[in-house]
Amino acid sequence: MTHSPHNKLTTSWGAPVGDNQNSMTAGSRGPTLIQDVHLLEKLAHFNRERVPERVVHAKGAGAHGYFEATNDLSSYTKASFLAKPGKRTPMFIRFSTVAGELGSADTVRDPRGFAVKFYTDEGNYDLVGNNTPVFFIRDAIKFPDFIHTQKRHPQTHLKNPNAVWDFWSLSPESLHQVTILMSDRGIPATLRHMHGFGSHTFKWVNAHGEAVWVKYHFKTNQGVRNLDVDVAAKLAGENPDYHTEDLFNAIAAGDFPSWTLYVQIMPLQDADTYRFDPFDVTKVWSQKDYPLIEVGQMVLNRNPDNYFAEVEQATFSPGSFVPGIEASPDKMLQGRLFAYSDAHRYRVGANHNSLPINRPQSEVNHYQRDGQMRADGNGGGSVYYEPNSYGGPAQSETAKPAAYEVSGKADSVDYDSHDHYTQAGDLYRLLSEEERARLVRNIVGAMLPVEKAEIKLRQIGHFYKADPEYGRRVAEGLGLSVPEN
Ligand code: HEM
Repeated sequence: MTHSPHNKLTTSWGAPVGDNQNSMTAGSRGPTLIQDVHLLEKLAHFNRERVPERVVHAKGAGAHGYFEATNDLSSYTKASFLAKPGKRTPMFIRFSTVAGELGSADTVRDPRGFAVKFYTDEGNYDLVGNNTPVFFIRDAIKFPDFIHTQKRHPQTHLKNPNAVWDFWSLSPESLHQVTILMSDRGIPATLRHMHGFGSHTFKWVNAHGEAVWVKYHFKTNQGVRNLDVDVAAKLAGENPDYHTEDLFNAIAAGDFPSWTLYVQIMPLQDADTYRFDPFDVTKVWSQKDYPLIEVGQMVLNRNPDNYFAEVEQATFSPGSFVPGIEASPDKMLQGRLFAYSDAHRYRVGANHNSLPINRPQSEVNHYQRDGQMRADGNGGGSVYYEPNSYGGPAQSETAKPAAYEVSGKADSVDYDSHDHYTQAGDLYRLLSEEERARLVRNIVGAMLPVEKAEIKLRQIGHFYKADPEYGRRVAEGLGLSVPEN
């Protein structure tokens, strides 16, 4: 539905509207009449304008663009959109903050969501990552608890640093991500000046059924830039939509942001012998061991026409794979394979994939029927079950995921490695003196309101194990001393 000037105003059922300024009343001072069905419809529809906001990543900005493959990676994956250099695939991206509500400020310290939908010629491929290569936890079972600590206290409805640091200090696998978050990169200058990562390990499979493990890195071609904390705080008050505005204005002005996509490839068998579990999302793979290989360019060149229809109704799922790309056994990713489509069915509806922003641009043939808001013809009179003798759509052998050997006891077990410290410490040691000072200042500022000394000491112990100087400086900033053990 688009409007041209001077069109006749109609009701949603298409009848011309006689008066859109005055409700119908019984006499000029009488009560309003139920007979004013246009008024009833208008108020009732208005009451239903909001869908539930995303339980996480509620505040976001989106843009359309294209992905162009620049390398031949067919020896690693049969994914058709990566088949040959020069191939272009339309895509849509949604950037977001994690913890805040739909109207919250953009320039806060938080990871940024980096969710990409590639409309490939073999279906939609969603890469639902962040601007950080690792995550706070490594098992999906901890996610709801983790997010509770990031959201508001049930009584005060305030953010609660006590809960945040209690959880992190009791979940030391978070240390690497906490260090990134508290560093300068915790507040990007704009959405255009940050990298993106798939974060998890995924599997790529080629046309011969040969598989490798893969990690994705989108490197910003604008260069990484971050915001000074004082500027960010000021902006959060003066222009809470600063990042949203920047992205929209840049694209509107023809200054199209772009990213170069790289992958790290790990031979399948290396997963058994690598020095830590490569499916542990709290760790990065060394680029010396697995160097970056260029895949292509992603360019954002078109703003959404309508925020609700495109950005709010967009549904990204880490489980939307296309042939040639599959899941790994990463315990976080495995949980996410369930969580997103479940959220979409609740938030947008069972037929969310038939909305224009989510609809694949390739052919869609399946036997799902009915459900609320079915607006795509519902398969008409075509055959509605499978198998059938009427030539209905049938499975493709070549789309079967690669078989993968598994063994062991069904049990709830942790990852083998409890070294949460080496990579966080390596990152600390990579920083310049000024960057270390800002990191410590940010952590101290965030930890000062923590009420329990026990929580502060436990967390300082983790910083100390990553690098004694790191722990000592945070302790000093908080006016505490760390026991040697
Ligand atoms: C959004 C769950 C971990 C990135 C969401 C949503 C849910 C969710 C329910 C809202 C979806 C919607 O309403 O459309 C989970 C669970 C996780 C997890 C259960 C762990 C088991 C992660 C990780 C990353 C991530 C590790 C990044 C590496 C995102 C992004 C969005 C999102 C970018 C926003 C997508 C959009 O723009 O629509 N998550 N998440 N999440 N999540 Fe996660």
